[in-house]
Amino acid sequence: MENRLETRILRVDPEHPDPAVIAAAAEVIKQGGTVAFPTETVYGLGANALDPEAVMKIFRAKGRPRGNPLIAHIASLAQARTLVACWPPAAEALARRFWPGPLTLILPRGAGVPDEVTAGLPTVALRLPAHPVALALIEASGVPIAAPSANISGRPSPTCAGHVWKDLAGRIDLILDGGATEVGVESTILDLSGPRPVLLRPGGVSREELERVLETEILLHPAVLQGGIGAAEGELDVAPSPGTLFRHYAPAARVLLVSGTPQEQAAKIKNYLAEHPGVRAGVLATTENFPFYQAEGILPAYLEILGSRNCPEEIAGRLFSALRNCDDAGVDVILVEAIPASGIGLAVMNRLCRAAENRIL
Ligand code: TXA
Ligand code: MG
Repeated sequence: MENRLETRILRVDPEHPDPAVIAAAAEVIKQGGTVAFPTETVYGLGANALDPEAVMKIFRAKGRPRGNPLIAHIASLAQARTLVACWPPAAEALARRFWPGPLTLILPRGAGVPDEVTAGLPTVALRLPAHPVALALIEASGVPIAAPSANISGRPSPTCAGHVWKDLAGRIDLILDGGATEVGVESTILDLSGPRPVLLRPGGVSREELERVLETEILLHPAVLQGGIGAAEGELDVAPSPGTLFRHYAPAARVLLVSGTPQEQAAKIKNYLAEHPGVRAGVLATTENFPFYQAEGILPAYLEILGSRNCPEEIAGRLFSALRNCDDAGVDVILVEAIPASGIGLAVMNRLCRAAENRIL
């Protein structure tokens, strides 16, 4: 980047944000600047969604492809309605049940939404986040805030201010440090713009929960559990999901997804380490397999316990920081144990499939 910015960091209490700190951050947004802020999922990199030049700063800071649209973050249902061409009953039902929360709705865009936000698509992505800092910032700014995850494009999303600093220091105006985020994976993205709801990205709200409210089956976009870039689009009669067209969630090391029962996974990892003595390997394991690694004396260059395979919430919360920790440990390869793809486990497996780009052991 040509012009290095002086990136400020302001600490903020995540539960009771200091109005003076929020006012300072809102001023940056109003002036057309960029502010990274915590949400309940991951940190976002925000700018005034109604100001095309401010929005372009997000793309430049992240090195994000222009064709990948942004989510507009709002603080009320009334504000959401100002950005859409229509507000169908399904949107009303889901918003009332899950907002504020980790759900993004894709709807036909309203006239006032700049092309820079939607990447020229006829739809707009809307989310009302459940984080006091995010909500206070949107309210104080008085405008919707366009915000992708606050990482360099393609890297794992940031779950604490340190991750944002590492990726974006010198590229953005301000970071609001509100501590670690809670959910750890991004919002669920549901496309309501077509004849049937389609899940484009699994996330903090599970497919099962959405189906209960809509009382209908929700189609999974074909790319959800595939690691290929733009995988299998066109096979089903659904519109392409722009987010799946780009490399994603990738640490610097190569990720290998390890499938099978816990016993099979442990055996595969043991064999891999034995067969590749020269490779610096990181292992991201479930609690269930940890005793096995101990008993067998398996000592990879880096080992982190993600949590129990029966508690995908716990694993989601640690996943992105664990991938970054592997990079910090300087490993060449990351072996990650697969978990059941139900509940928020679907979001975990989606991120892992994408990070592994179909390399499955
Ligand atoms: O939890 C989250 O959603 C976080 C926090 C910051 O809110 N944000 C986030 O943004 O993950 P981002 O940009 O990293 O991911 C948004 C995804 C992208 O894959 C993008 O392609 C998709 O949403 N998207 C945005 N607008 C869209 C649209 N109109 N149609 C289809 N997909 C869209
Ligand atoms: Mg992202």
